[in-house]
This record gives sequence, C-alpha cells and structure tokens, in this order.
Amino acid sequence: MFKAPRGTQDILPEDQNHWRVVEAKATEVCRLFQYKRIDTPIFEQTELFLRGVGEGTDIVEKQMYTFEDRGGDRITLRPEGTAPICRAYIEHGMHNQPQPVRLYYTGPIFRYERPQKGRMRQHHQFGVEAIGSSDPVFDAQVIDLAWRFYRSLGLKGLTLQLNSIGCSDCRPDYLAALGYYYSDHVNNLCPDCSMRRLRSPLRLLDCKNASCQDTVTGAPRILDYLCQPCGSHFEELKGYLDKRRIGYELNPYLVRGLDYYTRTVFEIQPAEVRGQSAIGGGGRYDNLIEQLGGRPTPAVGFATGLERIIMNLQNQGIRSEDVWVGRKVFVVYADEAGKREVLAIAATLQDNNISATFTSGDYSLKSQMRQAGSSGSPWVIVVGQDEVSKDSVVLRNMAKGTQEETSLGNAIKQIGRQRPSDWPVDR
Ligand code: HAM
Repeated sequence: MFKAPRGTQDILPEDQNHWRVVEAKATEVCRLFQYKRIDTPIFEQTELFLRGVGEGTDIVEKQMYTFEDRGGDRITLRPEGTAPICRAYIEHGMHNQPQPVRLYYTGPIFRYERPQKGRMRQHHQFGVEAIGSSDPVFDAQVIDLAWRFYRSLGLKGLTLQLNSIGCSDCRPDYLAALGYYYSDHVNNLCPDCSMRRLRSPLRLLDCKNASCQDTVTGAPRILDYLCQPCGSHFEELKGYLDKRRIGYELNPYLVRGLDYYTRTVFEIQPAEVRGQSAIGGGGRYDNLIEQLGGRPTPAVGFATGLERIIMNLQNQGIRSEDVWVGRKVFVVYADEAGKREVLAIAATLQDNNISATFTSGDYSLKSQMRQAGSSGSPWVIVVGQDEVSKDSVVLRNMAKGTQEETSLGNAIKQIGRQRPSDWPVDR
C-alpha cells in the first residue's frame, strides 16, 4: 500500500481551518507592515544554496534534495527561502526601488531530516525579508512583525532569544578564541563536532548532543568580542525592542544553522519544548546578496514553520475559530422592533471592517445569547424597542461579562480599539 513519503503529511480537510487561519494571519500582519508578497520557484540551481547557505552547514551537507534534471542541470528543492529571495532581488534589479525592499512569502521547504514531531522532510514556512538597509530599526521591525504575528494567533509562553554574531571584522578573533577553547575539549565532542571543529567552529555551539552542550557552557562569548560598530548596532536594536516592550533573553551562544548571518540572530522558542525546536528564527545577513553576485546589500529577515505553529496552537487548545475572535460581533434582538434593526446594524459594523452576524427565525433572547456564546464572538450587540427609541445599542463584552448602553458609533470605536493581545483566546 502506498503511503505519503516519510517526513511528509497530507493536510486533511479537518486540519485545513488551522492552516487557512495561520496563512491569513501572516498575510494580514504583512499588510499591516506593508511587506509585499513574492513567490519564487520551489527548485533552484544547486549552486545558489551552496554559496548562499554555506557548504559546511548540515543543510548543504546532509539535507538537500538535489538531482540532475533531464537537461543535465543540478537542481535542488529549496531547503530555505532567503537565498531564493535574494536571487530574485538581484535578478529583478530591485536595488532600483526605494530601500529596504520588504517582502514576504509562504510555501513548502524541503530538508532531508530524521523525521520526528515537528521535524519534517517537507514543511512550510512563512518568512519576511527587509533588503537594502543596515539600520537596526529594521532588525527591530522584523522581530516586531514576528511577535505581532504570534500574538495575533493567541500563542502564549513564547520566548525570544537574541544574540549578535558580529561581522567579518570582529568574528575572526572570536573564532580564534573559540578554536583555542575547543582544542582543550576535543575529547568531549561528538564525531560530527570533532570534524567541524576546525572548519566551522561556530556550529559547535549549536550541537544538540548532550556532551557538546555541556562543553558550550564555559566557551568564550561572542558578545565580548564585538567590534564597536557591531556593538552599537546591537545596543540600538535592544533599545528599539525595549521601547516596543518586546522582552528577550540574551543568549550569547545562539548561532543559527545557516552560514549567511552577520550581527543580529534570534530565535523564538515555544513554551513546552524550550531549547529544543524553535518555532521561528532569523537574523541579519549583510553579505549574502554580494556573495550571490549582487552589489553589497545589507538585509535582515525571519521565517517560521507553519507545522510547528499549528502544533503549538493545538497544544495550547487554540481552535482556528478562536483566532478570529477579534473584531467580531453577534447582533441580538430583544423584540420585534429590535429584529427590524439587526440587518442595518450588522451592515454598519461590516462597513467598519467588523465581522458581524445575527440569527434568523424567532429565537428567544436567551437562545440568541447562547448562539452568540458558542459563535466565539467577543462582543454582542443587543437591540430592542428601548434602544431603537433612544438611538442606542447595548454593547456586551463576552469575556468580561460587562455591558453598557451606548451609541452604535461608540460601540464601533470600542470594538475597533481592541488589540490582538486582548482577544479572549483562552476560552
Ligand atoms: P530556519 O531556522 O532554518 O531559518 O527555519 C525557520 C523555521 O522553519 C524554524 O524556526 C522552524 O519553525 C521551521 N523548520 C525548519 N526546519 C523544519 C523542519 N524540518 N520541519 C518543520 N519545521 C521546520 C531559515 O530557514 C531562514 N531562511 C530564516 C531567515 C529568513 N533568516 C533570515 N531570513
């Protein structure tokens, strides 16, 4: 009997709601931040990833799906999204546009990994890239966008880990110190790390093997080696994050599995599997475009795995309908006079970009309220003869259980002011 290939999955009809909601939220947040969508092919010339991701990385050494096509070209199914976006940036002369060019994408990614929960051979990423500025305000914006995206889904307990891995001026000194440190700990290293020690010592910090992890504690910290420009870039970034009240943990041993990073790197860890599998990650890559044949162009970006997001939503009991609870109203009538108003009230709400519905048939007020409760609407508007005569409505906040009589205009303002973080996703 045929089965889906190991490390892949069918997305069945019953799972589609979660997928659609996550993709729609990605689109919504990118629209808010004015990042524009780009789609690139799912395969590229192999050379793009050799040069882009780096020959010493696990991705290039062990995980790429590479084949020769019928014309003899070396082709690779994309193992990540950033190098293809940079290729497109160069190919389409996007340096002629106002910088930074801000792009986003979603789609399948292929890595030949040992499959386990949350680790797949085909997974899907949502990613953003801000290309063409070295200003730390864009590192902060990318993190802000990521944070807002997760919050809008109602995910709780995420932590942001932050580090700077310097630049080609300051990193060599650090690598020398790291090499020196590890030369004293060779016997504690796993076979992979023993091999990588001289070629790509930064990778050693990232190894999940227990004895390698123990050895990391005590290794020199890159933050102590940053040159002045990298140091002040990092300080500025932290200042922006503080101002946005985005909490972070400094992790001086955070490096990422791709070679292109310079300066800022970050990862977002979910509540349960701390230190295990990041839900998202990214950083700055100021040399990548030049390495791929473009002119020197600094850039920063982030990507997140949709399967891992959905896994975390499910772990936290967040249903897809909970995610939409934001600007959503159930209009309820108290009597015949009220019933004649519900269509117009719903239309006014909809004109104001607020999702609105009501029942049909002759339901009692109690039964309508029950329906409103199970619809997941955080707001209910009640209207009856009394309100009609005063040109008012009753606005009920379902999460708080409070209500007030007010004008429809005022109700719309209140509903519009509600922030994603206030959404009652924990019901
Ligand atoms: P990455 O950390 O390799 O970064 O992948 C981004 C996210 O994709 C991870 O945090 C994780 O959620 C998800 N992911 C990665 N591998 C798998 C897998 N085998 N199964 C399921 N989910 C997975 C990048 O790929 C960079 N291109 C991110 C970036 C964008 N940096 C700058 N711009």
